Amino acid sequence: MDVPVFILLIHLTQTQIKALVTGTVEDEVRCPLGEFPCGNISQCLPQNLQCDGRTDCPNGADELLCGDNIGMADFVGKTIQNKSVAGDSSSGCFLPTFPAGCGCIHTDVTCVKVNLTEVPLLSSNVTWLSLKSNRIRVLPDFVFSEYSALEKLFLQNNSLQFISKHAFSGLFSLKKLFLSENLINSLSPGVFKDLNQLEWLMLDHNNLSSLSHEAFLGLHSLMFLSMVHTSLQQLPHPSFCQHMPALDWLDLGGNQIQILNYSILKTCSKLEVLVLEDNRIREVPENTFQSLWKLADLNLSSNRIKKLPKNTFRSLSKTLVKL
Ligand SMILES: *[C@@H]1O[C@H](CO)[C@@H](O)[C@H](O)[C@H]1NC(C)=O
Ligand SMILES: *[C@@H]1O[C@H](CO)[C@@H](O)[C@H](O)[C@H]1NC(C)=O
Ligand SMILES: *[C@@H]1O[C@H](CO)[C@@H](O)[C@H](O)[C@H]1NC(C)=O
Ligand SMILES: *[C@@H]1O[C@H](CO)[C@@H](O)[C@H](O)[C@H]1NC(C)=O
Ligand SMILES: *[C@@H]1O[C@H](CO)[C@@H](O)[C@H](O)[C@H]1NC(C)=O
Ligand SMILES: *[C@@H]1O[C@H](CO)[C@@H](O)[C@H](O)[C@H]1NC(C)=O
Ligand SMILES: *[C@@H]1O[C@H](CO)[C@@H](O)[C@H](O)[C@H]1NC(C)=O
Ligand SMILES: *[C@@H]1O[C@H](CO)[C@@H](O)[C@H](O)[C@H]1NC(C)=O
Repeated sequence: MDVPVFILLIHLTQTQIKALVTGTVEDEVRCPLGEFPCGNISQCLPQNLQCDGRTDCPNGADELLCGDNIGMADFVGKTIQNKSVAGDSSSGCFLPTFPAGCGCIHTDVTCVKVNLTEVPLLSSNVTWLSLKSNRIRVLPDFVFSEYSALEKLFLQNNSLQFISKHAFSGLFSLKKLFLSENLINSLSPGVFKDLNQLEWLMLDHNNLSSLSHEAFLGLHSLMFLSMVHTSLQQLPHPSFCQHMPALDWLDLGGNQIQILNYSILKTCSKLEVLVLEDNRIREVPENTFQSLWKLADLNLSSNRIKKLPKNTFRSLSKTLVKL
């Protein structure tokens, strides 16, 4: 799925929400690339604010359908899933057991704000797990290894400090992983290596400061990586996307990155959206974006760029929509 499809999905979603809420289908709110609509009002916000755990839309729509209930982009999937079980009006739990204090619908388990200090024991058929807003500090080795059917895992707003090297081992079906709003200060090389199906990785609001490119080993399917406010001082080289060849949306806003050049971005050839807003970039060498032949949206706002070489954006002349 590339970015236009993804955006289409969000529009579709919003229309469906509208239709559901009001019983009418109004004109879609159109948002520029890299932004999403605030529910039923005609305001657009940057993509990285959606489901970030803070209310950004005046009507709260950015946090309304995510994480512990259903995510914007999940909405379509859920509707389809509901249709496919049409006639079955029960909304019961399909798992033999689930932890006290948690909720369960079908194979989705929700344990939000219940003061958990560790990952609870679950049935191996769980497909969706929200452990948002708890007090989990450590993810030990193999803690999710029984959950090979798990597709979405929400761990935002815990106190995660230490993620053991094999913590995500065995999550062969995982598509979305949310680790935002934690205290993670390093990612071991290969920590995501079983996550070959992962499409979304959210790491916003952590204190990573430095990062090895080996941390992303195995993420062949990753399309969306968000690392807003992670105290990053430099991007890993030789090349950031070496292990993420499918990456099409990269948000690195609010960090302390100073250096950007051709070799760092060389392997990011599928990128369509690149956000480097609010960093400390001083220079952008002429050939920096040369291998980004699909780039449509580039945000270099709020940096320290003093001059730009003549041909910096020339290679983007056919694709760039927004700068
Ligand atoms: C948006 O929806 C809310 C309820 O969900 C409603 O109160 C509000 O009037 C709606 N706004 C618009 C502009 O339709
Ligand atoms: C990108 O740049 C614009 C223009 O300065 C800014 O207002 C916007 O919030 C930025 N961020 C994203 C994620 O689009
Ligand atoms: C799907 O069904 C569940 C339970 O029956 C319900 O809570 C949920 O709102 C439905 N989702 C959609 C998108 O209709
Ligand atoms: C979690 O802990 C806080 C503070 O100790 C307490 O106020 C709250 O009721 C607890 N919540 C649950 C679900 O036990
Ligand atoms: C998981 O699902 C399979 C097939 O749907 C079923 O045979 C099995 O008993 C389930 N296992 C558990 C632990 O619920
Ligand atoms: C984060 O989790 C705490 C409980 O652990 C909760 O009180 C707080 O509201 C949560 N914050 C957000 C932004 O969800
Ligand atoms: C982030 O981590 C660095 C060391 O890696 C430490 O010096 C700094 O104080 C941390 N910042 C925060 C906000 O925790
Ligand atoms: C790009 O920057 C890195 C430092 O971040 C440096 O090691 C590398 O040599 C630079 N590459 C080029 C082509 O300037």
